[in-house]
Amino acid sequence: MKHAKHTKHEPAALPEEVRPGQSVELLKELHILTRDGKLNQDSRRKLKQVYHLVNFIEPLLRDVRETKQNVSLVDHGAGKSYLGFILYDLFFKGHKDNDGGAHVYGIETREELVQKSTELAARLGFSDGMSFLPLSVAESTTSDKLPERIDIVTALHACNTATDDAIDFALKKKAKHMVLVPCCQAEVASVLRKNKGKDLGRSALTEIWRHPIHTREFGSQITNVMRCLQLEAHGYQVTVTELVGWEHSMKNELIVATYKNLPRRRPTERLQEVMSELGLDEMKQRFYTPVTAD
Ligand SMILES: C[S@@+](CC[C@H](N)C(=O)[O-])C[C@H]1O[C@@H](n2cnc3c(N)ncnc32)[C@H](O)[C@@H]1O
Repeated sequence: MKHAKHTKHEPAALPEEVRPGQSVELLKELHILTRDGKLNQDSRRKLKQVYHLVNFIEPLLRDVRETKQNVSLVDHGAGKSYLGFILYDLFFKGHKDNDGGAHVYGIETREELVQKSTELAARLGFSDGMSFLPLSVAESTTSDKLPERIDIVTALHACNTATDDAIDFALKKKAKHMVLVPCCQAEVASVLRKNKGKDLGRSALTEIWRHPIHTREFGSQITNVMRCLQLEAHGYQVTVTELVGWEHSMKNELIVATYKNLPRRRPTERLQEVMSELGLDEMKQRFYTPVTAD
């Protein structure tokens, strides 16, 4: 005779990656935890990546909170809003101020993702402090649905020039901190490619981008160099590190910028020089610098 199955329901122990107080419902909704509360290999990797980023963002949130309670954060190219939800769950929901001013905004062009995130925030009771807007990053800069000032701007693998638009957004909103993990940017490479005929031969250094694969890779790298110089030219202190090991993602450069009102002249001049040396003068509008640099 077969033994009767043990039916008594005991909650399974949660994986150690789940932090105290963290919403298990949220992790299940984001498909980070399976229905029975487990992590699979893929979601463990995703969670590790998000946590790693969270570790960089947490001190920035604390820094803003030293001077004001209601921290505002905008996540550009939010996708399914893993980052926004996890940040809200870990740091925002426990710090809600009386007037409810602390807020996480997710900016995303794909309306179905915006709708899903909006519904999920409502189910989790996060709607007071989270909004998702079906806008491009560029549109969000002038949208009246966002406040004039934003404290922290994040953009994680926002496609192509969306990272540049996020920088423009953050500069216009006078953000104190930016956390950027750029995706491939094709615009600079396309200008290098277009001007190759007249630029090659001008200097031996043009060899760096003569072969098509090098044009793409160098274009992508020099874009990040110019982004950093642009941020410094606007008075930000910039650090560039690695988000996760190369085995996880090919695009793992993490740029963290904090406004310190630093001297602007040298980075401004350097950026102009880099653009003119590389035949990228037509990119000056994209990588704009302050009118007066002291
Ligand atoms: C590679 S996904 C990254 C999603 C999310 N940040 C993450 O890391 O899981 C890039 C997202 O940016 C969105 N996107 C691309 N260009 C955008 C733009 N100009 N404005 C707003 N969203 C954009 C895409 O629809 C996509 O959901």
